[in-house]
Amino acid sequence: MDQNISTLILNLAYLIGSITFIIGLKMLSHPETARKGNMIAAVGMSIAILGTIFLKVGGDNVAIKYAIIFGGLIIGTVVGFIAAKKVQMTAMPEMVSLFNGMGGACAMLISLIEFHIDDKPAIGKLVIIVLGMIIGTVSFAGSIIAWGKLNGKIKDKTIAGGQIINFILFGGIIILSTVVIGGFAPDLTIYLFYGILSLAAIYGILFVMPIGGADMPVVISLLNSFTGVAAAFGGFLYDNPVMLTGGILVGSAGTILTILMCKAMNRSLKNVLIGSFGGAKAGVAGAAKEQGNFKEISLNDTAVLMAYAQKVMIIPGYGLAVAQAQHTCHELEKILGEKGVEVVYGIHPVAGRMPGHMNVLLAEADVPYEKLLEMEDANDQMGSTNVVLILGANDVVNPAAKEDPTSPIYGMPILEVEKAEHVIVNKRSMKPGYAGIENELFFRPKTSMLFGDAKKVLQNLIAELKQV
Ligand code: TAP
Repeated sequence: MDQNISTLILNLAYLIGSITFIIGLKMLSHPETARKGNMIAAVGMSIAILGTIFLKVGGDNVAIKYAIIFGGLIIGTVVGFIAAKKVQMTAMPEMVSLFNGMGGACAMLISLIEFHIDDKPAIGKLVIIVLGMIIGTVSFAGSIIAWGKLNGKIKDKTIAGGQIINFILFGGIIILSTVVIGGFAPDLTIYLFYGILSLAAIYGILFVMPIGGADMPVVISLLNSFTGVAAAFGGFLYDNPVMLTGGILVGSAGTILTILMCKAMNRSLKNVLIGSFGGAKAGVAGAAKEQGNFKEISLNDTAVLMAYAQKVMIIPGYGLAVAQAQHTCHELEKILGEKGVEVVYGIHPVAGRMPGHMNVLLAEADVPYEKLLEMEDANDQMGSTNVVLILGANDVVNPAAKEDPTSPIYGMPILEVEKAEHVIVNKRSMKPGYAGIENELFFRPKTSMLFGDAKKVLQNLIAELKQV
């Protein structure tokens, strides 16, 4: 094919890719359009990939190059497809973390390869290679640790003097990078380059290791933005506009999400990164407190209370996702609606295990979007609510976040359920939630416990309601 035509087609493919990423990202911001947005961006990405493969690959041994590329594509597609099909909704964050780590690893490998191919890269290129490698490696190592922590294989660990060690590592990375980029020790460049790689990997591990509990979502989204930035450096290296656009979009979206989640938890990013909030300390705080007695409520009493209420607010949490009770929950909402009860949902921004987890879960069960109240609106309406039904939520309604300065979740805004008339908590036991701390709400006078698996309890509650 004529060189000019092939360049034109390739640029067109990249333009389509970039535009579909932007459209897809915009559509992802609403549950109703999110699925379509994902598809549109995926189609754009496929066009850009196929354009690159068929219009850029050339030179000697084209057949071997194609075999390697398509071999990798097929293996990756099969693994990704099976993993995505098999993953439980509750294990999504760990999968996101693992896939994000793979993105970081790719950026790291790109830098390694480019460093070797181009024996003496120009200083500008060298800066991009080194920066891409550092950020990609930190993201890769950090994401793997985050993945291990989310699936319980790795425990939170605070190392004595950890912050000082991280500071020294960071300083070491900057010094070695300056020497490599400035060409101050040409004979040692290759060793120093691998030295930077090793320090970045250790830094990635140590920086995520002590962070835990309630702070993991912030760290994951921060690592996500790192991977985006590292990929954007790859786009610079290859003069590839679609890689650059994709990387910048992931980087900026991840940064915005990180800021929003810090806001939702009322914490600064610095505090998250060095505070070990809800991490290694979390299991200790609050655990030793004498809590007193809690009272239970029967299914029948719950049904009566709800049937005669004017307004019921359902607070969904991680347990609702574990029980896969979203459809049953929607059924309960409809039955209450038929009885003239107004039902709304109070959604905490970090309820569940990933951003928007509750919105996605309830959208899957066709709960009308306008019934979902964001935390501020839910708190505004709490005073006019007769019954709050907490379904498998714990940390997001823990009053210690407002009242106990020694609590690891102190400062995180919560759903202020005690402003409502009655509080009913459904969970299976008195065990703590993700942050590993006691919840005094369960022992407060307004609260009644309704024990059992969320799905079973809701099914029985619906049966009771039909009798009322
Ligand atoms: P959690 O505090 O984790 O509490 C969930 C509760 O659900 C548990 O106490 C558990 O008690 C109960 N539960 C589990 N399975 C159940 C079932 N089948 N039926 C009924 N109840 C069940 O959840 P939350 O209130 O949603 O708070 C989320 C926490 O996760 C926060 O600390 C947040 O920071 C963290 N986190 C959030 C994200 C994002 S971005 N959303 C990501 C990672 C971590 P029992 O065992 O007694 O039943």
